[in-house]
Amino acid sequence: MKQISGVSSFSVICALALALLAASCAKPETPQSPVERGKYLVMVGGCTDCHSPKVFTAMGPVPDSTRLFSGFPAGSPIPEIPKGAINPTGWGGMTTNDMTLWAGPWGISFAYNLTPDMATGLGGWTEDMFIQTLRTGKFMGGMSRNILPPMPWQTIGQMSDDDLKAMFAYFKSLPPIHNPIPPAIPPEAPPAK
Ligand code: HEC
Repeated sequence: MKQISGVSSFSVICALALALLAASCAKPETPQSPVERGKYLVMVGGCTDCHSPKVFTAMGPVPDSTRLFSGFPAGSPIPEIPKGAINPTGWGGMTTNDMTLWAGPWGISFAYNLTPDMATGLGGWTEDMFIQTLRTGKFMGGMSRNILPPMPWQTIGQMSDDDLKAMFAYFKSLPPIHNPIPPAIPPEAPPAK
């Protein structure tokens, strides 16, 4: 009996050693450090489409590599939206050329600054706030107003805790950019009867 259990624990150790060997030889299919994995998820998740200012090239707008993820550029003009243009049979929504400003039935929303700037970005955020914001769809970690369209929190919020933590680690690794985002503007008041 003693011998048998000796043999079986030996084979367990062998199996573990083999598994470790296999794991260390295997080429990782996705980046492994949280920051690397976060970068990968943020890139495939399309966050840059709305959260990065753009530069205009012959091929159209591309993310401005000097201001990645800094959100709607403070002080940019807010184009006038023709009164009544956004309605159930007209425009469903509109966006500026850099896609950091969006207008729709919800009013006007400005893509947030996701760089770790203390005053205007994610600098003061905790990992938990980031996760709760994306899970609950409420500003500032679930403590404030509903997040407006077109921020796709409903789908992003379904990612695992580990994936959300990795994205947060990536944003925190970026150079902080001071760029205050204006408050959202409510929709035009319904015309008086
Ligand atoms: C289609 C455009 C769009 C895409 C794509 C997008 N966002 Fe947003 N995001 C916005 C807008 C607009 C806001 C501001 C919403 C508001 O004012 O309520 C916002 C706000 C946020 C906020 C701030 C919420 C708060 O509480 O202050 C976070 C965090 C965020 N986005 C993360 C992400 C991440 C991470 C991704 C990619 C996985 C992403 N966004 C992709 C448009 C977008």
